[in-house]
Amino acid sequence: MPFTPIRDILVGRLEDKKLDIRGWVYRKRESKDVIFVVVRDATGFIQCTVKRDSPAWAQAGRVTIESSVTLSGTARSDERAPGGFEVSTDQLNIIGLAETFPITKDQSEEFRRDVRHLWLRSQKMRTIMEIRSEVLKFTHEFFRKRGFVEVSPPMFISSAVEGGATLFGVKYFDRDLYLTQSAQLHLEVLISSLERVYCVAPSFRAEKSRTIRHLAEYWHVEAEQAFATMDDLMCLEEDLVSYVCQKVAKQYRKELKALEVDDKKLAKVKPPFHRITYDEAVERLHRRGFKIKWGRDFGFDEEKALAGEFDEPLFVYAYPKEIKAFYCKMYEENPKLVMSVDLIVPKIGELATGGSRIDDKEELIERLREFGLKEEDYEWYVDVRRYGTVPHAGFGLGVERLLTWMLDLESVMDTLPFPRTTRRFYP
Ligand code: 4AD
Ligand code: MG
Repeated sequence: MPFTPIRDILVGRLEDKKLDIRGWVYRKRESKDVIFVVVRDATGFIQCTVKRDSPAWAQAGRVTIESSVTLSGTARSDERAPGGFEVSTDQLNIIGLAETFPITKDQSEEFRRDVRHLWLRSQKMRTIMEIRSEVLKFTHEFFRKRGFVEVSPPMFISSAVEGGATLFGVKYFDRDLYLTQSAQLHLEVLISSLERVYCVAPSFRAEKSRTIRHLAEYWHVEAEQAFATMDDLMCLEEDLVSYVCQKVAKQYRKELKALEVDDKKLAKVKPPFHRITYDEAVERLHRRGFKIKWGRDFGFDEEKALAGEFDEPLFVYAYPKEIKAFYCKMYEENPKLVMSVDLIVPKIGELATGGSRIDDKEELIERLREFGLKEEDYEWYVDVRRYGTVPHAGFGLGVERLLTWMLDLESVMDTLPFPRTTRRFYP
């Protein structure tokens, strides 16, 4: 007999049927004549009752929390059972008897991160992992519907994208290379043939900052589009974020509730998002008592304050040239400002950075020099401008920041099974 997924029992169609299930022991409670064993598999939880006269009695007595088991029995409806159904058990076979499981109730987040490989079995982590998978699925769905081609950028790179300070160096045969910070420059190459490209891939940052929004390794959604303007770009970003939020709100109501997230918060994420310039953002911050000088980048606190004012996602664009990357295109009417745009959300701050890229060869070469970057390292990137250049724009969005914001989590660390930070690289 094939094993029945627990979810199929909970929908009620298998009442009074004999069946086999398999999974892990989630909970166990014993009384004089009956042992209740709650079993979980990937699809749900079900209570299994073992009576004293059942052949399964001895094994049920021996089994421990988190042991792996197979059970045979009959599905019965019972209002007292969580989920409304239980399995009246005739046979219980222990596959792997678990030693005393170290995770119990009311332990600190710190401890749970120390034993992440075991904490991943929790209902909370399970649900987050499931929604993470769906967020990635909806992201792919969105881009494909828009005619974007998924491409696979390299992880080993020879020249920096986002400045030298956060580069991870790696030995590459007898050369020194880096782990990628962003696929952007390679995506720009690909627009000359595919026009609209995107990728979902890891990015690496040697970030020393120990904040709730920094990882050393994170998953980066990046897109690049030929002939796109700043307006096209912001529309694309807000459409993507809204698409993902709407889908999750609609299809994962139960899971969101379990995580104590209000699905209405996600359902109301709709385009257009607010758009303000950097200048306006500085003015708003001054009005709120922040002492930020024009020309400085916003920190976490400033971003949180800005997004908090709107309590919704917010675009801030037209930044001073000095605080943005070398590839950002200047405004013709004001070359002090570049066409760069950050998407900011409450609690987490910056969710995405994007913008229009310099499309003129000479201008790019000049900027490389200004930034002290070696032209020969970027020859291939300059070639995009040398052979049939077009105006173009793109962005990068951190998957973990998106999930942390969507699911009201404490830290980006909680959105990945095995987070990597300055201190965490085990298991
Ligand atoms: O703002 P960033 O550095 O922009 C770029 O890398 C551009 N080249 C992207 C592009 O235009 N294709 O990174 C983009 C996003 C940030 O907004 C943030 O969401 C996320 O990547 N991010 C991080 N997430 C977690 N931990 C870190 N250390 C992150 N650094 C950036
Ligand atoms: Mg940024």
